[in-house]
Amino acid sequence: MSLTDCEREDAGASFLRDAAAVRDRLYPRRPFCSVLTFGCQQNEADSEKLRGMALEMGYQLTDSPEKADLILINTCAIREHAELKVLSIIGGYKHLREKNPELIIGVCGCMAAERHRAEQLKMRYPQVSFVLEPGELSMLASRVLTALSGKRSFLYTDPADFPHPTEGLPQKRIGGHRAWVSIMYGCNNFCTYCIVPYVRGREKSRPSEAVIAEVRELVCSGVKDITLLGQNVNSYRSDCDFADLLARLAEIPGDFLLRFMTSHPKDVSPALISVVGSCPKVAPHFHLPLQSGSDAVLKKMNRHYDTEGYLATVRALREAREGISITSDIIVGFPGETDADFEATLSLVREVGFDMIYSFIYSPRKGTPAAEYPGPVPSEVAHERMNRLLAAADESARLRALPYAGRICRVLVDSPSRDGRAGIMSGRTDTGKLVHFSTGNETVGRFASVKIERAEAFALYGTEMP
Ligand code: 5AD
Ligand code: SF4
Repeated sequence: MSLTDCEREDAGASFLRDAAAVRDRLYPRRPFCSVLTFGCQQNEADSEKLRGMALEMGYQLTDSPEKADLILINTCAIREHAELKVLSIIGGYKHLREKNPELIIGVCGCMAAERHRAEQLKMRYPQVSFVLEPGELSMLASRVLTALSGKRSFLYTDPADFPHPTEGLPQKRIGGHRAWVSIMYGCNNFCTYCIVPYVRGREKSRPSEAVIAEVRELVCSGVKDITLLGQNVNSYRSDCDFADLLARLAEIPGDFLLRFMTSHPKDVSPALISVVGSCPKVAPHFHLPLQSGSDAVLKKMNRHYDTEGYLATVRALREAREGISITSDIIVGFPGETDADFEATLSLVREVGFDMIYSFIYSPRKGTPAAEYPGPVPSEVAHERMNRLLAAADESARLRALPYAGRICRVLVDSPSRDGRAGIMSGRTDTGKLVHFSTGNETVGRFASVKIERAEAFALYGTEMP
């Protein structure tokens, strides 16, 4: 369902009303707000909204939570490790609250949408003033108002009831010449290991005209690299599908690149492959999470594709776009994963030749089907598999990087090199590879032509061409 203009105004309009009330309440002070972000790019994008909303409420931004009067922690629930880290950080903020009793701490993001976590925060973390689920961003000012009157809010909204979360909300971008644009929210896929559909609710696509207007504005303001975001962008649907949307965005005049993530292998359509193959403004990079190279495990994960189908998609992408880089996510230690299943994953990794793999040890998530599956893989076995996968991933990345040596690549310049050496800048190729190169021009946010002299698995080294 696409939004009417009236609904679109609602999120922004109701927020702006509450934000004005917060501003009145704070006036003439301009206290500080610090936003901390964990997890995926979607959270990075949501944090830009949190920052924009904080400014609108009359706060000034600071990177230092110690200095802040409002701390917003944008959390991730995808693995237990991420949750424990956040809980320990919140625990550490107890002393900040003791020093500054006016301090407001809000827990936002996916953890806030887990009922048991919200309950835990309410009962065991008195320093937390409110939770704010990913679908409720527009309620930020209302939660802050309640907190300013000394009350705590731990409401639970059923994700199914989420209104459209972000249309019309203010936003403070921090990416410079790179930008995120959310094109849809939520997920309908219910992979059996994954918490996302429970905490972010069902898929909702933004209207295409809103996405196109946003991208056009970014390009006009000089942004060079735009990543379209969604849990499964391939199932985007408004008045057009994702392939059409991408093709329409690629028609916007200007010198820029379009990226997108994440794609679900079951939904990569021939039309999408053809757009990736034929539009130079679409980056020659495809993130295609495999998760496992065993058909039996893929079935238990509820992924709706098999290894043969996956390989066929990879082949089609490589035929459509020469030199395309393919990256992936892989989980090891899924319940019941046998040695043979894991060997099948390793062998598929070698067969595909990924440019980069993000690998994860399976983490049981309360409320997901896989958390109840038999055959948990012992931790030492999972770690041993992880180490073997990392070695295979390194080798695969090295083999994919080698042919870059000697080539001239277009590189979007991001920053001076991290080690601070004068005359060395860092950036990324259109395929997403990190490049360190020597140059006399230290301007960032421009495309440079770089001759690659040396290629390592995760970095290329070269010199800018005149
Ligand atoms: N355990 C480990 N990894 C997970 N991912 C999602 N859920 C889990 C989990 N419960 C991984 C998947 C996904 C990536 C974003 O995180 O590989 O693609
Ligand atoms: Fe999670 Fe699967 Fe949805 Fe990705 S597609 S967010 S892994 S349920």
